[in-house]
Amino acid sequence: MKKTILRASLAAFAIAGYAGIATAEPVDEKLTIDGEREMTVKTKAPEGHPFDEVLSGWLFRTKETRALEADSFANPGMLRVEEGEALWNKVEGTAGKSCSTCHGDAAESMKGVGAAYPKWDKDNNRPINIELQVNKCRTEQMGAEAYPFDKGGQKPLTAYVKHQSIGMPVAADLTAGEMQKWWDKGKEVYYTRTGQLNLSCASCHEQNAGKYIRADHLSQGQVNGFPTYRLKQADLVSLHNRFRGCIRDTRAEYPKAFSDELMALEVYVTWRGTGLSVETPGVRQ
Ligand code: HEC
Ligand code: HEC
Repeated sequence: MKKTILRASLAAFAIAGYAGIATAEPVDEKLTIDGEREMTVKTKAPEGHPFDEVLSGWLFRTKETRALEADSFANPGMLRVEEGEALWNKVEGTAGKSCSTCHGDAAESMKGVGAAYPKWDKDNNRPINIELQVNKCRTEQMGAEAYPFDKGGQKPLTAYVKHQSIGMPVAADLTAGEMQKWWDKGKEVYYTRTGQLNLSCASCHEQNAGKYIRADHLSQGQVNGFPTYRLKQADLVSLHNRFRGCIRDTRAEYPKAFSDELMALEVYVTWRGTGLSVETPGVRQ
């Protein structure tokens, strides 16, 4: 009992303490990339969602950060997307093939693909994300090595594939295979308090969205910009890296990238952003 009270007050302290009491509404602005591609950064939440509206993390960033994403020449993540394009056309592996050997022009073959991930992978009887699909094609179709987490071409190639869906609404199919079960598991993870600070994802991104943690304006924790360019890291950051960073901030042990726990979280959190535009590469602080 005593322990619980101590934990709860520590959690309250963690948020109130970092945050002071500052709360600020997200901006009410439109994101139009290069003055021509209008993005959905705010939309009605799907049924059963804790919020009425889902909001892109872009609305919580500073004016300068928002401006970087609105201009694809200024968006530093676009350089990494260009690296992804080069990798798309690069022959690798014992089969002597590149991605484009089979998939041709990504602007056509990959359009809309990233918006529908994670997907049910019946070969492996679990959900698959773009990172793992790329590895699947490398190992099964190209005779190339799988990229280790966050290494080699994983981030740029994932960003390149997802970028082909920019502006399209996030819509993962939860009716395929056992996706619903993984959604349930992901929801459980989302609401489970962990770590010395005894915080869940919801403690920050649901109960305290709109408040400040140190200099960070807490958003709903949406995934539609990933891999996203973080100014702090001066690089693209993958989704599972972000998940692990958030879990580490609660002073908990964090699960492996692509573990069942994080894949379930990806299924669930992607659903929480249903209808937002794919922004890859998003720009965040
Ligand atoms: C020898 C042909 C071949 C090569 C080379 C190849 N793929 Fe594939 N790819 C496939 C086939 C077949 C599928 C569908 C079956 C599956 O899921 O593996 C597929 C599926 C995909 C999908 C999922 C499409 C969807 O609609 O869900 C993506 C994304 C993808 N490949 C990306 C890549 C990338 C990136 C590369 C290069 C690293 C690559 N592929 C190389 C044959 C290939
Ligand atoms: C201690 C508070 C805290 C907890 C707990 C926390 N996060 Fe975060 N998270 C942050 C902060 C701060 C940021 C950066 C500002 C923002 O976008 O909210 C962030 C950012 C994110 C982003 C990136 C949003 C974007 O637009 O780029 C995602 C996704 C995310 N969190 C998911 C999660 C998930 C899933 C969990 C639970 C495993 C979690 N977070 C737990 C504080 C937290």
